[in-house]
Amino acid sequence: MYFTQIAVLALAAISVTHASPISSRENDRPDEMVYLINCDRFQGDSKTPNGIKDQFLYFEDLEKSLSDGRGGIARAIAGDNGRHDGMYSHIDWTLAKEDTPLHAEFPQGEFKVWGLAEKGDPKTNITGVAELGGRDFRCYDWPRFHLSQNGGGVIKYSCTARYMCFRAERLVRQTKFNVFDTTITIPISGGADMKEKDTRILDDVKAAFHKLEQAAADNTGDTHGYQIGDSDFNLYFDIERAETPKDAHYDPNRIKNIAKMLADNLAPELYKNQTIRNCRASIIGLDPICEHRISWPAKIKVQVQFATQALQNWVDQDIITIRVGRDPAKVDTSCKKTESSAAVLSGLFNAGGALTGGVASAVSMGLGGVFGGVAIGTCEFAKTKNN
Ligand SMILES: *[C@@H]1O[C@H](CO)[C@@H](O)[C@H](O)[C@H]1NC(C)=O
Ligand SMILES: *[C@@H]1O[C@H](CO)[C@@H](O)[C@H](O)[C@H]1NC(C)=O
Repeated sequence: MYFTQIAVLALAAISVTHASPISSRENDRPDEMVYLINCDRFQGDSKTPNGIKDQFLYFEDLEKSLSDGRGGIARAIAGDNGRHDGMYSHIDWTLAKEDTPLHAEFPQGEFKVWGLAEKGDPKTNITGVAELGGRDFRCYDWPRFHLSQNGGGVIKYSCTARYMCFRAERLVRQTKFNVFDTTITIPISGGADMKEKDTRILDDVKAAFHKLEQAAADNTGDTHGYQIGDSDFNLYFDIERAETPKDAHYDPNRIKNIAKMLADNLAPELYKNQTIRNCRASIIGLDPICEHRISWPAKIKVQVQFATQALQNWVDQDIITIRVGRDPAKVDTSCKKTESSAAVLSGLFNAGGALTGGVASAVSMGLGGVFGGVAIGTCEFAKTKNN
């Protein structure tokens, strides 16, 4: 069984419940793709091109092709559509129509492409339609990137990938880190004085996020708290996963990757902005003990989602909610609205590689494109729920 666009649409409509696991499509190539590239030919060290070679490049798997940089497994010269407006002019891809497609032969079958606009659809970036060996493809005007090829001897090609065409039903993955705009002040005790930070506090903050892995292993749900440093505050993890280890594309490292993403992105910023208070001497001759106050997001919601690339109909697959709570015997009054801090923290997740944003396969491992977002929280909620 595999997802058709209609099946995925139906799932989107009922996305209050979770999406089913992504099924296996053995003997299929769900991530096969074709680049449409414009290449200029250069001889020796010359900076002036002395020819062109516009081509189609076939890859069985986008991620593999991006990671090994060359890995193309088939190449075909793009059929000339006869338009030349200079000595060395590139193919005008936009001239191809359904009855006059550009085409090439690959071992995988005949490739045909048409309807390529300058600019793609604003929501999906789709521009144009293709077929390979009779299977439906959609082409995208993003991302454009540069690659170079050796032409043998002194010949080099400098190329720009202009369009990329994927299977029409290809599934993509993304992971969103929503940081709520409420924070709770968490005092952790450590050494150093008012001016100096204690790097053990950074380890405590990181360790708290890594407890997500422990929580997933313990499987005790959001009722069990995991202490933050030596404070009387805990993190509570609610972990809902749609896939189990017996599903075809189950990713055993997903929770670990999410914990790492949280620790690597948030911990240094939270640590950097701590305030140090109430230092008092411990034992004569040793460092004083201080209160290191960390302004911690009251709640973070992580959504692992997938969609049909051509439809951008994102459906939640896994949802992990992390909230801060205090020892139930003690009242927390530190919760406050902090929109600017949530914007800064969520922004830290947006620095991921542009190339995989929105195009990462849902059937391979990893989090896919990673994004941050700001979610609206209320302190009343944090108090009634946590105290
Ligand atoms: C569309 O392209 C823009 C860049 O031109 C990119 O930022 C955006 O993520 C793309 N959207 C999708 C759905 O791939
Ligand atoms: C940390 O402090 C800097 C400097 O005051 C500020 O610009 C930044 O927004 C703060 N970060 C957070 C997460 O509040």
